[in-house]
Amino acid sequence: MNNTLFSVSIYDDNKIIGYGRIIGDKTIFLYIQDIMVIPEYQGQKVGTKIMNELLTKVDEYKKVNPNIRTYLGASKGKEKFYEKFGFKTRPSVDLGEGMVLF
Ligand SMILES: CC(C)(COP(=O)(O)OP(=O)(O)OC[C@H]1O[C@@H](n2cnc3c(N)ncnc32)[C@H](O)[C@@H]1OP(=O)(O)O)[C@@H](O)C(=O)NCCC(=O)NCCS
Repeated sequence: MNNTLFSVSIYDDNKIIGYGRIIGDKTIFLYIQDIMVIPEYQGQKVGTKIMNELLTKVDEYKKVNPNIRTYLGASKGKEKFYEKFGFKTRPSVDLGEGMVLF
């Protein structure tokens, strides 16, 4: 967490109900990570609020470094949520497959 560039926490009174963060080098690479909304608050646009705040920050970084790329790894079944914010599945945008090392 100490190496997080920017994070968003959403509260209902004192209770944290949603979280998301950006990691990366602010220059060529950003990664959106750990978007989560606790189950009883899902479907109420809390995730949208988190994504909008993170993407506003991404835009700030882009003003300094226009070629910066923003990645994320969607959990299975969550792709449609991220598509609403303009994210594309890599093979459909002339890039190789995303890969991961466990
Ligand atoms: C994925 C998650 C962050 C979405 O947050 P949320 O607050 O429930 O989402 P929102 O209410 O802001 O939904 C925004 C839109 O995305 C859609 N959406 C949300 N989850 C979706 C899903 N799994 N599949 C398709 N569409 C989805 C909503 O229907 C809504 O559509 P609309 O704008 O047309 O009404 C939340 O469900 C979650 O925390 N899930 C568990 C943790 C997780 O899997 N995180 C993702 C890790 S990659």
